[in-house]
Amino acid sequence: MVTASSDVDPIVYINGKRYVLPPGRAEWTLLQYLREVGLTGTKLGCGEGGCGACTVMVSTCEPDSSLLHRAVNACLCPLYGVEGAHVVTVEGLGNPRDGLHPVQARLALAHGSQCGFCTPGFVMSMYALLRSKPEPPTEHEIEEALAGNLCRCTGYRPILDAFRAFAKVDPGAYTEEALAAHKANGMEAPVVPAPTNGAVCPSTGKPCDCGGVVSHSEDKGQGMGPTTRTPGKQSAEPIFPAELRRRRPQELSIPGPQAAWFRPTTLDRLLELKKEYPHAKLVIGNTEVGIELKFKHAAYPVLIGVTHVAEMNELTPGEKGVTVGASVTLTRLMESFAALRASVAPHQRPVLAAVVEQLRYFAGPPIRNTAGLGGNVATASPISDLNPLWMAAGATFFLRGRGTPERAVSARDFFLGYRTVDMQPHEVLVKIFVPYTAEHEYIKEFKQAHRRDDDIAIVNAGIRIRMAPSGEEGAWVVADASLAFGGVAAKSIMAPRAAAALVGQPLDPAAVQRALAAVREEVVIAPSAPGGMVEFRQSLVSSFLFKAIVHAAHALAEDVEAYASAFPPSYASAITPYSRPPSYGLQYHSAVPEEDVVGQPYRHMAADLQVCGEAQYTDDIPPPPGTLHAALVPSTQAHARLLGVDKGPALLVPGVVGVFTAEDVPGGNDIGAVAHDEELFATEIVPCVGHPIGVVVAETEAAARAGARAVAVRYEPLPALLDIDDAIAAGSFIEGWGHSVHSGDCALALEASDVVLEGWVKMGGQEHFYLEPNASLVIPGEGGEVTSFSSSQCPDKHHRYLAHVLGLPMHKVTVRTKRLGGGFGGKETRSAFVNAAAAVPAHLLRRPVRICLDRDEDMHITGQRHAFAAKYRIGLSSAGEIRALDVDIYNNAGYSLDLSFSIMDRALTHIDSVYRIPAIRAQARGWQGGWGMGWLCKTNQSTHTAFRGFGGPQGMLIMEQIMERVAKEMDIPLNTLRERNMYNEGDVTHFGQRLEGCQARRCWEEVHTLSGWAAREADVAAFNAANRFRKRGLSLLPTKFGISFTTKFMNQAGALIHCYTDGTVLVTHGGVEMGQGLHTKVAQVVAHALQIPLAQVYIAETATDKIPNASPTAASASSDLYGAAAADACAQLNARLEPYRAKLQDKSFKDIVNAAYLDRVDLSAHGFYSTPDIGGFGSEKPYNYFCYGAAVAEVEVDTLTGDFHVLRADVVMDVGKSLNPAIDIGQVEGAFVQGMGWSCIEELVWGDKKHPWVKPGWLFTRGPGTYKIPSVNDIPVDFRVMLLRNSHCHRTPQVHSSKAVGEPPFYLGASVFFALKNAAYAARQDAGLEGWFRLDSPATPERIRMACCDELSGPFAGPDFQALASC
Ligand SMILES: Cc1cc2nc3c(=O)[nH]c(=O)nc-3n(C[C@H](O)[C@H](O)[C@H](O)COP(=O)(O)OP(=O)(O)OC[C@H]3O[C@@H](n4cnc5c(N)ncnc54)[C@H](O)[C@@H]3O)c2cc1C
Ligand code: FES
Ligand code: FES
Repeated sequence: MVTASSDVDPIVYINGKRYVLPPGRAEWTLLQYLREVGLTGTKLGCGEGGCGACTVMVSTCEPDSSLLHRAVNACLCPLYGVEGAHVVTVEGLGNPRDGLHPVQARLALAHGSQCGFCTPGFVMSMYALLRSKPEPPTEHEIEEALAGNLCRCTGYRPILDAFRAFAKVDPGAYTEEALAAHKANGMEAPVVPAPTNGAVCPSTGKPCDCGGVVSHSEDKGQGMGPTTRTPGKQSAEPIFPAELRRRRPQELSIPGPQAAWFRPTTLDRLLELKKEYPHAKLVIGNTEVGIELKFKHAAYPVLIGVTHVAEMNELTPGEKGVTVGASVTLTRLMESFAALRASVAPHQRPVLAAVVEQLRYFAGPPIRNTAGLGGNVATASPISDLNPLWMAAGATFFLRGRGTPERAVSARDFFLGYRTVDMQPHEVLVKIFVPYTAEHEYIKEFKQAHRRDDDIAIVNAGIRIRMAPSGEEGAWVVADASLAFGGVAAKSIMAPRAAAALVGQPLDPAAVQRALAAVREEVVIAPSAPGGMVEFRQSLVSSFLFKAIVHAAHALAEDVEAYASAFPPSYASAITPYSRPPSYGLQYHSAVPEEDVVGQPYRHMAADLQVCGEAQYTDDIPPPPGTLHAALVPSTQAHARLLGVDKGPALLVPGVVGVFTAEDVPGGNDIGAVAHDEELFATEIVPCVGHPIGVVVAETEAAARAGARAVAVRYEPLPALLDIDDAIAAGSFIEGWGHSVHSGDCALALEASDVVLEGWVKMGGQEHFYLEPNASLVIPGEGGEVTSFSSSQCPDKHHRYLAHVLGLPMHKVTVRTKRLGGGFGGKETRSAFVNAAAAVPAHLLRRPVRICLDRDEDMHITGQRHAFAAKYRIGLSSAGEIRALDVDIYNNAGYSLDLSFSIMDRALTHIDSVYRIPAIRAQARGWQGGWGMGWLCKTNQSTHTAFRGFGGPQGMLIMEQIMERVAKEMDIPLNTLRERNMYNEGDVTHFGQRLEGCQARRCWEEVHTLSGWAAREADVAAFNAANRFRKRGLSLLPTKFGISFTTKFMNQAGALIHCYTDGTVLVTHGGVEMGQGLHTKVAQVVAHALQIPLAQVYIAETATDKIPNASPTAASASSDLYGAAAADACAQLNARLEPYRAKLQDKSFKDIVNAAYLDRVDLSAHGFYSTPDIGGFGSEKPYNYFCYGAAVAEVEVDTLTGDFHVLRADVVMDVGKSLNPAIDIGQVEGAFVQGMGWSCIEELVWGDKKHPWVKPGWLFTRGPGTYKIPSVNDIPVDFRVMLLRNSHCHRTPQVHSSKAVGEPPFYLGASVFFALKNAAYAARQDAGLEGWFRLDSPATPERIRMACCDELSGPFAGPDFQALASC
């Protein structure tokens, strides 16, 4: 136990307020502390530095007295790491009362927040960028600064538009001096130039560069409003505290029960400490150590922060190279090397450039701002991005230990094995020396990841080649080479034999072949190697080597006039990186007169609260005194019999108050969304990893989690079924819920067809990745009452679950939901068991209980979008008219029913996409013809559940994959085939519904025009002809999406409206606001109906004691349903108010309401709506109406790596007469990007036969570190969205002929998938491969690269290669 303590109080300033840091918190993060002191604007999204929701600005006074402002992930930043710093959180900038800060105001006004959970993080990243630069940032810098912030709702475009204005901020406006001057003069915050609403930015000449939603000439755009601090009480920017300016770096030693924290300021003192505590953990950025503490539950009794050791912070350029202290942050390393390039000789630059380029894609800025060079080296990760470069460059590491001489170890010899290095326990890494490149020496960095921004490498490399004249006229040979690779072994490795194969050789195709042959032999990845993707990784090694050789040849040709590269000009495409311009968007929507409240592009009603962190989410609610914290006890087995559960060890953990299992459940332990086929806590059998066995409650969250880990569970493992194939082989289907759709005589029509094709389509699942994890706060009340605050899309479901498991009548249980930080279907049913688990101890102990899942828990146990597989047979006429489709569809339901059957129903009713199929047998159950057996596949995965589109996108993607194959095999242009079969007005679908108001062809034609399709096809062909290793692809995709719950009774809704005597109106309805703008739209409907300004309408929350039995907020139907229910309530109120309106014609609503009140008129009305004239699944009218759309996407692919960019996307979407075009456009953009993620980027990896390196039944991809949703860098560079003009829906008069928008555009993101496939076709053509090939989704870099089969990937996989996928 360390007892020493510092002489001075450890302090931190937060938003200008001084705090003395409490002792005993060495293992705490800054985020924990911020939230404890009530600053809940900073969010916990992942706890692993991967989402940016926790971003704050940390300012420090540097040794040269300059101020350093940087964005930091508070979830990884050690609390004591900010001692002596000024922390600015989103609350420190502004709020609606004191005025919003310009960064906040821009974001709110530009529709940059939907659910708002990511929003404070974006605000802080942008703010830190402004504060850190004396000059206005460029648009590039703004996009780069946001690379560590994820948003799952918006599709990023409006965020970029909002912040783009700051690229034109007054130079120096955010310097400390300028801010101080503002404060001294009592002036408002710096001024950003006023935005324009024109279609072209006067400054750049580019469309919409100023951030306003750009209008088509005949349409109406929306203004961006103020860009200075919004009006309010005068408040100042957070200025760096004077006390901290005066303070010199303090040495710290803070004892604690779990760990002691030391912060030496000199190397001597560090070495002394390291001698005293040889096993002490050094900490720089904590981006490794923090992960070990949180996720691996490592215990480090002594932590030593080395950020303030002066000698380890030096960065000294010398004659032969640069010496960099181990504590130098990666941002400083990057900036210094970038600056140094200008002052060294040209031939010395390549090594500096390689490091800078590698760091550009190293994590996100907040990680780079704190992570240290030494931390990266000493971690010795096999996928470290820098270590291969240090090895290839010939860097030297310098180690010191007290009492032993300094040791210099070559980077090549330093890494001994998996995370082991040549360093003694008493030693520390002090600095590294990086030599400059010599003349004619070229070094190149490589990295391929799942996602470009903020992702760890799949394979990376540093390759150095030095050239020398061979002696023959104009001839040059390789004098020296070193090749280092990461991601291919347990440590970063060199490939000396491949290097030797190059030495003495000229750089020509023959040398390439020799080197490739050598590297293939030398760098071998075992088939069972952790990480999988063996063929891809081997191909990447070859690709990187090939690129390095071509690069060296081109670079030499630039340096030496007499030398000519031996590679053809089209090979330049192997080394020319895509230079991504800043992205921008155009939006088109129709205008309505200014006096209309409906149809106006109002911003989200909670936007102002979201941008300042005051919007309250479930886990932000201040817990009442005595609140306990809950943690689930999860199963660690995929399928097992429970032999025993010993609560004893958990009860011994200090702070643990109780452990509750099935035997403690006071009511029913059986639960389930539709069928009660699940258990709240497992009794005899655990059906999947993560299934709750019990719940532990404790005085602190840490104690609850420690208690949960301590519960001793004994299992008898049982055979587990882990994917659709396993389930089919075992005949494991959820019985009794299979559906099918039949029309015509399918067998006959197939027989009569000229062409019949058959095959399989497979697609993976998708994680919701709502930024806010599931959370609940359950508060017991008098007489058995229970109130639960829940992050749920369906408070009613929680209501039922709680009453059932607690054995209470429903009238004693109230569930309240204010807002969600995203849901996307994931919080429709799977949040309820989390809530119920917390309710058990709350009810039994009579104490409030809070539960908030960690991101990895949430991803593991709450289910995902279903993976699907389909076996099909399609028949066509010789002219390409579809005659028949016979398809068996399988989905991976997980271990229980949940909503899998309705999701399958929607797949069955969307299998037609937009095409007439006269005869169809689409079934979820096998048929006798030997086509396999299928149903809802019951597996030992967590139960899969609703996700935006609810099976519709899967059904359509199956069909479109079939269409794409038909087109290729029948040699008919795909778009011609589509047009030939596309629905017309009045056509009848395969389930018998007549299409009224069919807009399929209109959307199709409009998107042709919007995208300029005709000219671009030729451009793409020309580009592809000129470039061997970069290919472009263009695709056009139509969609049609049915609106209604396919379970008929769910299509009902209630709303309650109170009019108050001040003329304001409180609306409560059954729908949940989760970012989709539902409350804003309903408020617009109400304001219109009552003829009052929107500001007079307020929607506070959703609650089961106000609106009972509400259907989930899902199926895109909520604005139709709740808008209509609210309109019904308004109609009742209007009828009651009518006499007073007539009497008081020129009076305000307040006067009218008051007159009615005095007359004893009921000013509260309950409205109700049930969708008329629909029949649910199985009827000929399951849908109220259909939404239509079409999209064009263009991509550019690096065929050697699979890296791609979406150059442009054009979307035309039919939303009827939009209630709110800004919200609708936001939904279209967000859905498109999410759909692109589903089909192209996001891959779930489960422990199954295909991934033997993952424990059976475990989800490997259970955090942002391994599961990649699109980031800001992935969105279309040019993103255009048009809401179809002159469209209205005669089925929705109550909501002004508007249509649903949440789900329908999602599938259009798959246009990127087909564009990628087209690019791969072009690459294959160059390799001599013709004809159709199968590409399963998602089209990850692995699948794209392997599809672009060439002589580099050929040795590892053939043209028909299929990547191993969890399905
Ligand atoms: C979200 C996220 C993204 C990431 N992305 C990448 C990426 O793209 N590429 C990549 O390569 N890595 C990545 N990493 C890994 C990690 O950030 C880097 O390895 C980083 O450089 C570690 O630095 P740190 O200062 O935070 O290390 P810390 O966590 O502070 O320390 C790491 C280890 O180094 C030891 N150590 C630190 N300094 C010394 C010293 N002077 N002498 C001896 N031992 C020392 C510590 O004791 C500890 O064991 C990522 C991590 C996260 C959380
Ligand atoms: S919560 Fe910190 S980055 Fe996600
Ligand atoms: S608004 Fe960004 S995650 Fe919801």
